[in-house]
Amino acid sequence: MDHKDLREQNRLSWNAAVGAHDSHRGDLAGFLREGGITLFPEERALLGDLGGKTLVHLQCNYGGDTLSLVQLGAVVTGVDISDEAISSARRLSSEAGIPASFVRADVYDWLEKAAREERRFDVVFSSYGVVCWLPDLEAWARGIAAILKRSGRFVLVDFHPAAEMFDEQWNCAHAYPSGGEPRLLREGVGDYVAESGGGLTPARFEEGVRGFQNPHRSHLFRWGLGEVVTALSGAGLRIVTLEEYPFCNGERLFARMRELPGRRMLPPEDMPAVPLMYGISAEKS
Ligand SMILES: C[S@@+](CC[C@H](N)C(=O)[O-])C[C@H]1O[C@@H](n2cnc3c(N)ncnc32)[C@H](O)[C@@H]1O
Repeated sequence: MDHKDLREQNRLSWNAAVGAHDSHRGDLAGFLREGGITLFPEERALLGDLGGKTLVHLQCNYGGDTLSLVQLGAVVTGVDISDEAISSARRLSSEAGIPASFVRADVYDWLEKAAREERRFDVVFSSYGVVCWLPDLEAWARGIAAILKRSGRFVLVDFHPAAEMFDEQWNCAHAYPSGGEPRLLREGVGDYVAESGGGLTPARFEEGVRGFQNPHRSHLFRWGLGEVVTALSGAGLRIVTLEEYPFCNGERLFARMRELPGRRMLPPEDMPAVPLMYGISAEKS
């Protein structure tokens, strides 16, 4: 299903939240200028050597990871639906002195246009809270396959759908996601950067905006991991790696999470291990 109207509502919800998120990031431009990299080891391992590669970063948000990909040698285009996220990314690029192209567009529209214009890239990358905003996995996967060069790679790191089964207190409260079932978030995009208390702010955590309330609701789509893999392989991408991780990077998704070095969050010791993130590397044959 297309759900363009819901995606436009999501755009408003993201626009409202970006300023609050940015208010906590400290001197990120200075961090990047001095060679800092915001990416975590898991996506860096899946991405491999990026020297001289052309790369599209889908759903790039405020651009910290996009500019880190440039630092690793790639020529990068970042794409995001949110006007505020793209303004913030352009500002960060200029303040850090790291060049990248940023395009404000719905991922479906951008993929279609890029394929029509016969643009081709070595790598497509997307990470951390991205699949849940997509109402149509087949169109997304087809669009990615269409803009990859032969032997080009798609790398995805995202929160594991199994994590969506728990409420904040670790009670198993929801069915395993499937079918892209829409889920209304009345409270809209929240201030997860503040809630993660330093996990998402490698430069420094600033108190910034307090008590952020989003006036715009948002709409998520609930997909299982099998559906993501099936969409990618159905689009002609060969799954090279599928990894599941019993921790999550940066974000404190639940109560009582333990923080290990490197901003890695683990469940409390009394919880059995569950996958909280996954990573995929797929190749266009
Ligand atoms: C949780 S963020 C992703 C995190 C990001 N990778 C980072 O480095 O911070 C999700 C992003 O998806 C974007 N988004 C949501 N729906 C979209 C769509 N239909 N097309 C393009 N971007 C979309 C939002 O604007 C938001 O910036």
